Amino acid sequence: HKGNHEHYMQKEIHEQPESLTTTMRGRLIRGGTCKAKTVLLGGLKDHLKTIRRSWRIVFIGCGTSYNAALAARPILEKLSGILVTMEIASDLLDRQGPMYREDTAVFVSQSGETADTLHALEYALQNAALCVGITNTVGSAIARKTHCGVHINAGAEIGVASTKAYTSQIVVMAMLALAIGGDAISNQARREAIIDCLFDLPNKVRDMLKLDQEMKDLAKLLIAEQSLLMFGRGYNYATALERSLKVKEVALMHSEGILAGEMKHGPLALVDESLPIVVIATRDACFSKQQSVIQQLHARKGRLIVMCSSGDATAVSRQKYSGSAKTWHKGSLKCQKLQKVHLSATFQKKWIT
Ligand code: UD1
Ligand code: BG6
Repeated sequence: HKGNHEHYMQKEIHEQPESLTTTMRGRLIRGGTCKAKTVLLGGLKDHLKTIRRSWRIVFIGCGTSYNAALAARPILEKLSGILVTMEIASDLLDRQGPMYREDTAVFVSQSGETADTLHALEYALQNAALCVGITNTVGSAIARKTHCGVHINAGAEIGVASTKAYTSQIVVMAMLALAIGGDAISNQARREAIIDCLFDLPNKVRDMLKLDQEMKDLAKLLIAEQSLLMFGRGYNYATALERSLKVKEVALMHSEGILAGEMKHGPLALVDESLPIVVIATRDACFSKQQSVIQQLHARKGRLIVMCSSGDATAVSRQKYSGSAKTWHKGSLKCQKLQKVHLSATFQKKWIT
């Protein structure tokens, strides 16, 4: 039931603190009698040895599920030391790409029924790869046909555009990385930090969802635009792709997720005073590189919306915050209409540089 929400997608977005908690329940263990922090994925425990011996791990999916795997890839690479590659299901089939019995093929699908992903699974089975499913729907075709797997336990997703499944998929793949990585001493500190962050995640998401109204205000500013670019890198390259996919399928607006590291190899030509560009610049290993991307976009007078960690508004703006909704929209045909949108002072500080 939709409850107080306008539609299922909105309900599912707001369910994330609970769906993420359910995804991790009984699988991430810390404190209590068991002092060590551990991960227990019941569906994989008999297969971990085989997975660790693989030549490579290949993620296969479509749309949001592919993007979730892309977000999780760095953590799996770091913790497992195994080569991790990515395949869009239809492209793997079009190319009849290489697939070997020494491969672990991980099929990511919310519904567990997507035809391209299912066909890619049949192809991987024919090629004798170990097939692992990451699915939301118990009893679905992909859950049944894979050799083993993990249910993301996010609860039914009714909205056509995937939302809560995306975050639960990433969490399951982070837990998969922890499980495959095992308890090598060299990874211990990183493992514990990841587990602590996963426990904290539902609260972080809860805080994020408090920005709902501000996001709606921002959406009102952008709804009449033709196009919206999203720049991300590192973990947030996947975020940029996923957001632009959502803008396409939900707002029916052209949007493109761009790897910020590729900016100077083509996309910079698009930057002008009118095209809105979202830059993701959170405090991670790519932060300083994103700061320089922002400077280059400013130099081209780009219309920027910077999404950053709280407290970083100054660090991601030109020098210090000096923008306003009014100056930001100078030159836009929608100028008159847009200026009427009320933006709180904190909103402007946080999002517009
Ligand atoms: C399982 C039970 C859960 C119970 C828990 C208690 C199910 C569906 N889950 O959860 O209700 O509380 O034990 O120990 O009964 N699988 C695939 N492909 C997929 C997904 C899963 O083959 O895409 C297989 C797994 O390898 C496993 C089974 O399905 O054999 C259940 O997976 P999962 O629900 O993730 O296992 P648990 O978390 O252990
Ligand atoms: C597409 C949907 O058809 O399937 C996407 O439009 C979705 O939103 C993709 O992400 C994959 O779906 P699933 O169920 O395999 O995760």
